[in-house]
Amino acid sequence: MRIIVVGCGYVGLVSGACFAELGNDVVCVDTNPARIAALNGGDCPIYEPGLERLIACNRQAGRLAFAEALPFLGNDVDLVMIAVGTPPARTGGADLSSVFAVAEAIAARAHERVVVVTKSTVPAGTGDAIERLIAAARPDLDLSVASNPEFLREGSALADFLRPDRVVIGTQDARARNALMRLYRPLTDAGVPLLSTTRTAAEITKYAANAFLALKITFINEIADLCEAAAADVRDVARGIGLDRRIGEDFLRAGPGYGGSCFPKDTSALAATARELGMSLRLVEEAILVNEERKYAMGHRVIDAMGGDVGGKTVAVLGLTFKPDTDDMRDSPALALISVLQQAGAFVRVYDPQGMDNAAEFLAGVAFARDGYDCVAGAHCAVLATEWAELRQLDLSRIAASLAVPVFVDLRNAFDPAALADAGLMASGIGYPMASLIASRKRLELGRPRKARPAPVPAPAEADGNRLRHPHHATLQ
Ligand code: UGA
Repeated sequence: MRIIVVGCGYVGLVSGACFAELGNDVVCVDTNPARIAALNGGDCPIYEPGLERLIACNRQAGRLAFAEALPFLGNDVDLVMIAVGTPPARTGGADLSSVFAVAEAIAARAHERVVVVTKSTVPAGTGDAIERLIAAARPDLDLSVASNPEFLREGSALADFLRPDRVVIGTQDARARNALMRLYRPLTDAGVPLLSTTRTAAEITKYAANAFLALKITFINEIADLCEAAAADVRDVARGIGLDRRIGEDFLRAGPGYGGSCFPKDTSALAATARELGMSLRLVEEAILVNEERKYAMGHRVIDAMGGDVGGKTVAVLGLTFKPDTDDMRDSPALALISVLQQAGAFVRVYDPQGMDNAAEFLAGVAFARDGYDCVAGAHCAVLATEWAELRQLDLSRIAASLAVPVFVDLRNAFDPAALADAGLMASGIGYPMASLIASRKRLELGRPRKARPAPVPAPAEADGNRLRHPHHATLQ
């Protein structure tokens, strides 16, 4: 099939490359000339495991091309997919200006007939609005508009796309449905369920899925707080409820709150849609507030672990992206954490395996380290904010020996508490008792001998001044 995908962000690039991989002829379009130039030069503008290679293979095979402008949409084009961003508008709803701009371009470039498919995450009724817009501009056009939401996760996008739990097709138009069923046949033949719904049901399904997952995370995070107060381990509780198939084990990892480009924006847009319809999604509204507060509460958790006063002390933050295997910093919990620490007077030194360049756009006044060990050297506390495999493999004894004060806060429960304690770290995680932390701090206060540590670090300002090795440091101070 011949497919045009408009938008070379996460969804557009992954979809375009994967549709090409399934044997289709795909042209991916983006109005950002730098992005198209990079793609045509063989660079992948986003970090997603396997994507660069998939793009290269399919370009070489002649199935995938990139263009700055929407080509003429002759009758040989089977589908035009809208995969542009729908960032948050000031009202909390989704900003659909890019979606409607693409719809206008389609109206201008279409020949006689066109099947438009919305892959962007758009509120209920957007398909209707796209249809009205194109039909008004081109009453002569034989037009079909369908919704085909995407459920891929950053970091595992290719596997999520090629082996999804389901494909959702929202349209009552036979031509659009047949074209989409043909497109997805390689997946459905392999056993992937395909759900055919109305356009509006498909649009809501996307938001409802993200909102439900956000609620699930928020729920386990509140249970984690309860576990800490009641001296239980949330990981036992998560497993205990997750083994109930009606609940399921996924998305029950307690942590610093959800972030990323999807859950925060989509929960907010769903709540806004409800308000526009004269009702209120109270659970979703509450989860948004609870999650937002939680991200900042993580900063206070670190301050508490450091004894309540972080003025002039150095905190090493390991991991910055909103989750591992992405370079995406949008709404990352690490940002709220760092802002609280800085406001409390701490010097913050950071390291992330892939997110440093993007982080530099979001962070001011931090020092960028070369690697995990460089990050913790001489610091008064280390915080694991994102559970990258590289960071999980750090040698805990080396970290303990390298910190000026061996306090470690594991916001992702990435490490075994016993291993942290064995390494000599006064450690705390999320949702399990702090007893060991408190006991070990008391031991320290009583002046018990502990493993030999390097001499105290120089004054943090001086230390960090020497440590600014990242290319962006000059703009950060
Ligand atoms: C999410 C959905 O999972 C995808 O299905 C959806 O397609 C995508 O949004 C989207 O709408 O485009 P993504 O934002 O890439 O995907 O990442 P997730 O893996 O869902 O993680 C989101 C946040 O939740 C991260 O901050 C992560 O650390 C956090 N999380 C996730 C937890 O705190 N606990 C968990 O158990 C799972």
